Amino acid sequence: MQVYNKTQEEIELIRKSSLLVSKTLAEVGKHIQPGVTTIFLDGIAESFIRDHGGIPGFLGYRNFPNSLCTSRNSEVVHGVPGKTILQEGDILSVDCGVKLNGFFGDSAFTFEVGEISPEKKRLLKITYEALYKGIEMAVAGNRVGDISFAIQNYAQNNGYSVVRELVGHGVGKDLHEKPEVPNYGKRGNGPKLMEGWVIAIEPMINMGKKEVNQSKDGWTIRTADGKPSAHFEHTVVVRKDKAEILSTFSVIEEILKEKHNSVLV
Ligand code: CO
Repeated sequence: MQVYNKTQEEIELIRKSSLLVSKTLAEVGKHIQPGVTTIFLDGIAESFIRDHGGIPGFLGYRNFPNSLCTSRNSEVVHGVPGKTILQEGDILSVDCGVKLNGFFGDSAFTFEVGEISPEKKRLLKITYEALYKGIEMAVAGNRVGDISFAIQNYAQNNGYSVVRELVGHGVGKDLHEKPEVPNYGKRGNGPKLMEGWVIAIEPMINMGKKEVNQSKDGWTIRTADGKPSAHFEHTVVVRKDKAEILSTFSVIEEILKEKHNSVLV
């Protein structure tokens, strides 16, 4: 699979897929609370995607069994939904992909379950901000390494470490296309970004050390030191002056605001 510039028509289709992912994450976010299982959240996502004419992008991908990846606390990514019951104080990365009209969208958001510790809150904030630091560099003429460096630099300056084994990627007719977009690297290295490239940028940031292990289930990636990890992802288009973000967190953040207000009432 070659890296190629998407046409504006293709970009519009990827935008639709990405927006459906965002709305699905918002729908899932409505239901995230202590006592809920991750398989319950997965069912909500699958129904929501299908009700909106999409196909869950992860379901069956390399035999992945579900529509969401749900990764809790020390789980970094690729957590398999199951009977795990969310507990007050957990963080939960929810990663979702959708295929619609032949094109994929891909996005992830790490949610708070009830009240979380200030340490976890800071990890979420820095990871979220690291994603946007990366996106700022997704400009035509820059190199992939400029994105990678921006993310790594920001995370490490804040005392965290960056997962090496899993990376961002191109998005289009396939869920994972070229180029790879690592969250660590050197400025000026890697492929030159061209206008119209669609890439998923997805920092996975660990509170402790960078090392990770794969669980016996063959999917779940965990931190080796057992400390928490966070993950945020957007699908974006490389543009001349400023990257265009195709997925959106605003629908998720609206839901979170409503939830927060209802908790206060
Ligand atoms: Co991705």
